[in-house]
This record gives sequence, C-alpha cells and structure tokens, in this order.
Amino acid sequence: MSLMIDCRNVIKIYYNRTKQIKMAALRGVELKVKKGELVAIVGPSGAGKSTLLKILGALDFPSSGTLHVGGKLVNTFTQSQIIDYHRNWVGFVWQAPLRNVLTSEKAINNVLLPMKIGGKLPKNKQKERALDLLKSVGLEHRINHKPTQLSGGEVQRLGIAVALANDPKIILMDEPTGELDSETTTEIFTLLKELNKFFDKTIVIVSHDRYVEKKADVVYRISDGLLLNIDLARSIEVTDSKEQVSYVDEFGLLRIPLHFLKDTGIQNYVKIKSASDRIEILPHVQEAAVSDVIVKETKKESKGKNSKEDRSGK
Ligand SMILES: Nc1ncnc2c1ncn2[C@@H]1O[C@H](COP(=O)(O)OP(=O)(O)O)[C@@H](O)[C@H]1O
Ligand SMILES: [Mg+2]
Repeated sequence: MSLMIDCRNVIKIYYNRTKQIKMAALRGVELKVKKGELVAIVGPSGAGKSTLLKILGALDFPSSGTLHVGGKLVNTFTQSQIIDYHRNWVGFVWQAPLRNVLTSEKAINNVLLPMKIGGKLPKNKQKERALDLLKSVGLEHRINHKPTQLSGGEVQRLGIAVALANDPKIILMDEPTGELDSETTTEIFTLLKELNKFFDKTIVIVSHDRYVEKKADVVYRISDGLLLNIDLARSIEVTDSKEQVSYVDEFGLLRIPLHFLKDTGIQNYVKIKSASDRIEILPHVQEAAVSDVIVKETKKESKGKNSKEDRSGK
C-alpha cells in the first residue's frame, strides 16, 4: 500500500493575542497513513486532536515540520492549490451533525451542492451519483427530507454522503459521533468501516470515544500534543508493574506513569541525575518552593546592586 499522509515532526504553536504566551498544541507529531487505511486517533479534550485534523485538512498550517499528502508538500501550497485540495482531496465531517449540511436544503440537494461548486463530474452524472451516495449511507428513503426532518444519526449519515460527494481521497472526521447516542455511534462506525472498504477511502477519525478503536486498522493515542501508537501506549498503561517501557521523543520529553509519581511523591519538579549507563529521576522540591528561592535570590541581588550603585554615586 502506498503512503497517503506523511506527517513529520509537526509542531503547532498557538500564541495569545499579545504574542507573549505560547502554547504548543502539537509537539512533534509523526503520522504515516497508508492509502485506504482507517486510522483512529483517540485522546482527551485539549490533547490536540482538532489541531492535528485541521492541519491534515489544510485549514491550518504547522509552525514547523512537514505534511505530505499523496506525495505533495502541503506546507507550500498556493491559494489555488489549497482550494483544489479542499474541493477534491479531502472531505470533512464535524462533530455537530448540522454543521455538515445546509438545513434549508433537501438531502439530495445537500449532496449535489459540492459537485456543483467544484466537482469534476459532468452535470448529467451528478444526480445519479448523489442518489447512489444516499443509498450507500442508508438514506434512499429520505432523499427529499430536509435535515431538520431527520434524526441526529441520519443527519450525520447525510454529512458523510456530502463529504464523499466529490470523491475525495481522504475523509477527515472530528468527533463524528460526539453528539450521538451509543447505538447510533455503533451504526455510524460500522457504516464508516463499510464505506472505507467499499470506496477504498483513506479515513482519519479523531475522537475521545474509544469505541472507534474496534473499527480502525491503526490506532494512536494522542496526549498533550504527542502521538503514540496504541501498542506502545498499552505497554505504558500497565499499572501494577515496577518496570515499564516509556516513550521519549527527540526533544527529550518523557511520560512517567502516574502510579510512579504517586509512589515516589513526585510533583511538578524532578531532579535528573546522569550516570554513565543510566539516568536517575528523583523527587525535587515543589514548584512554589523553587520560585520562592528564585524571588529571594533576585531580591538579594538587586539589593546588593542598589547599595553598590548608591555607594558609587556618592
Ligand atoms: N486557535 C487557538 N488559539 C490558542 N490555543 C488554541 C487554539 N486552538 C486550540 N488551542 C489550544 O491547543 C490545545 C489543543 O486544542 P485542540 O486541538 O482543540 O484539542 P482537542 O481537539 O483534542 O480537544 C488546547 O490546549 C487548546 O486550548
Ligand atoms: Mg477537538
């Protein structure tokens, strides 16, 4: 299978309005997705899921690192290449079902719209394709219904048909079942798996719902802007062991299992000692105590400096 998405060392820094505070939403993401794969990226709120998805969809760009899609470097796309990418390469499905459709339009028109705006299919083939797509998401009996006349699950199915309209190579989904009940969630993920195989689409789903893992070919955990393959994540999640494998990225960032922190009383700061064959991590004084020391030191220094200046001024 050839590589569809190749994300290398992607870092995304957000700044606040005054550009003084920066926040690393992604801290060196490495992600390779093969053509036709269904990849799930699972993690808690604030982990960087939407940020990553927006970068994959060229709705935002990395602060550093590269994104290649279908062998093309997305970072350097011109405005017209970005428009083409949005129209013909990627289809989006967002969490809120009604965000994926036009509420004033019938189901059939919703699917036709992307084809009319920027699709490559001849006009006389568009209706046939729209009907086929509605059938493939199980909405053949709802073609003339407006989204407001459909259930949440049905609207999300319609959203999927809309995303597929221009036959994009990749479907990107941000918490697509976040607003649906568990039964509907199961139905939607089962449908996605079928569509993934039937249409041979590459699908990336970000979600905090671990049910998605059952349907995915590859699963990643995302936490604090870092991506971890599930197999490695599982080895880190073992909770009763005194010895564990953990992942260190190229910046030296290390995740320490929570029960290790509890057992050792480590909070916020550690002392790291290097020996020839190992690195030791020891508990260190609390953050407050450290900043206290810094404040005291600074006061002492400035006092000394002032008195010296005072003397020289005399
Ligand atoms: N436009 C933005 N400006 C500043 N910070 C942002 C922006 N978008 C997201 N963030 C921050 O980046 C982190 C990751 O956000 P996000 O990707 O939305 O996480 P998730 O989708 O996993 O909940 C969060 O701490 C969030 O507050
Ligand atoms: Mg999000």
